[in-house]
Amino acid sequence: MQKIKDYVSANTDRFLAELFELLRFPSVSADPKYKEDVIKTAAFVAQKLQDAGADQVEVCETAGYPIVYGEKLIDPKLPTVLVYGHYDVQPADPLELWDTPPFEPTVRDGKIYARGAADDKGQFYMHVKAFEYMMSEQELPCNIKFMIEGEEEVGSSNLGTFVKENKERLSADVIVISDTAMISLEQPSIETGLRGLSYVEVEVTGPNRDLHSGVYGGAVANPATILSKMIASLHDENNHIAIPGFYDDVIELSDAERKALNEAPFDVEEYKADLGINEIWGEAGYSSIERAGTRPTLEVNGLWGGYIGEGAKTVLPSKAFAKISMRLVPNQNSTRITELFQSHFEGIAPKYVKVKVTPHHGGEPVVTPTDSIAYKAAEKALHETFGKMPIPTRGGGSIPIVALFEKELGIKTVLLGFGLDSDNLHSPNEKYGIDNYLKGIETIPLFHKYFTELSK
Ligand code: BES
Ligand code: MN
Ligand code: MN
Repeated sequence: MQKIKDYVSANTDRFLAELFELLRFPSVSADPKYKEDVIKTAAFVAQKLQDAGADQVEVCETAGYPIVYGEKLIDPKLPTVLVYGHYDVQPADPLELWDTPPFEPTVRDGKIYARGAADDKGQFYMHVKAFEYMMSEQELPCNIKFMIEGEEEVGSSNLGTFVKENKERLSADVIVISDTAMISLEQPSIETGLRGLSYVEVEVTGPNRDLHSGVYGGAVANPATILSKMIASLHDENNHIAIPGFYDDVIELSDAERKALNEAPFDVEEYKADLGINEIWGEAGYSSIERAGTRPTLEVNGLWGGYIGEGAKTVLPSKAFAKISMRLVPNQNSTRITELFQSHFEGIAPKYVKVKVTPHHGGEPVVTPTDSIAYKAAEKALHETFGKMPIPTRGGGSIPIVALFEKELGIKTVLLGFGLDSDNLHSPNEKYGIDNYLKGIETIPLFHKYFTELSK
């Protein structure tokens, strides 16, 4: 323990400098403009894995962005840990809301501000540096494999094929992912579930062209108004989702499970103040913790149509659009939910408009075990670095590959996340605490050590 602490202190400046280098690559997978940068990022990650001592390092081509693979196999009799992460990031816009440029990492108040700082560059890179330590100090207790992808933020559409074609290469006893949050540095926690996702785009068409809103307004249905009404009808007065069948497959938590989850510290006043909201909102009968972790949701992610430029243009738009996501919980299925949404949404369309629903990527929900060796090892490692026993929580976000790994490889995951919910993921001014980063690097070798010991 002291040895890794000393190693981290002696190398802090370099660990930060390398992460900053990684953060300077604008590896936005959603925007083709950054294609070259995304590819360069993969090469950088591969180089760093190689430098840290990995063998068989390969930038594996896919139909989309490459997957970086590397491994260190020391003994087939020892357990194998597969580390998964993603080097791609979300788009940085709206740029004007950043206090410092998203791809020029800047430290303020002990936090690194940059797109990808917490999601997921700062987090997966902890594993690369922990690996460097274990290699250079002869402390690697087990076999280790790395698989760092470049399309997580756009739905990992080529990862499934890669996993299916590389089952042997990816075989492992556990998958460890640092791409989630903990409660705080004072109260470590481990996410034990992730929500699934069903994501659709809807298009509502009224008249065959944009119209003068004075000449035709009042006599022709406005698709923007219709779309707003349709969207508003998707929640009832208790904020339940009003799509027939939506909750059919939801497994309700037991009273004991609900009680345990609600024991996590949560200060509603702090929550409201942090977000600048006057009141919290959500499904009747559930706490905020439950609403954001264990309940399915439906959210509008984008809504547009008509004139949205400077000044006022009087127009009755021909079309209105929305991007809608539904977060899913066990045992909902994303394909089924997408179908339910589609038939419901088409069904509620009034005859004044035409409706088109286009499905985007999806992913299945997961619950990760708390009685596994890997969970126990994570608990023990976090306890040692943070001086406090971590508590289990449920994450509201989605990492669709977790369910896929389980299905294709039969391997369970442990979510060893060191971020905070307040890190502004996908928002302007994304950040990651330097302490989170360094503590993570300290904790990871302990995880490998305890996982190996407990596996015996
Ligand atoms: N790292 C996040 C997911 C996450 C964040 C899980 C916080 C738990 C806590 C991941 O990069 C992400 O953003 N996933 C997307 C889904 C993907 C299919 C685009 C998400 O959750 O929206
Ligand atoms: Mn992520
Ligand atoms: Mn993300």
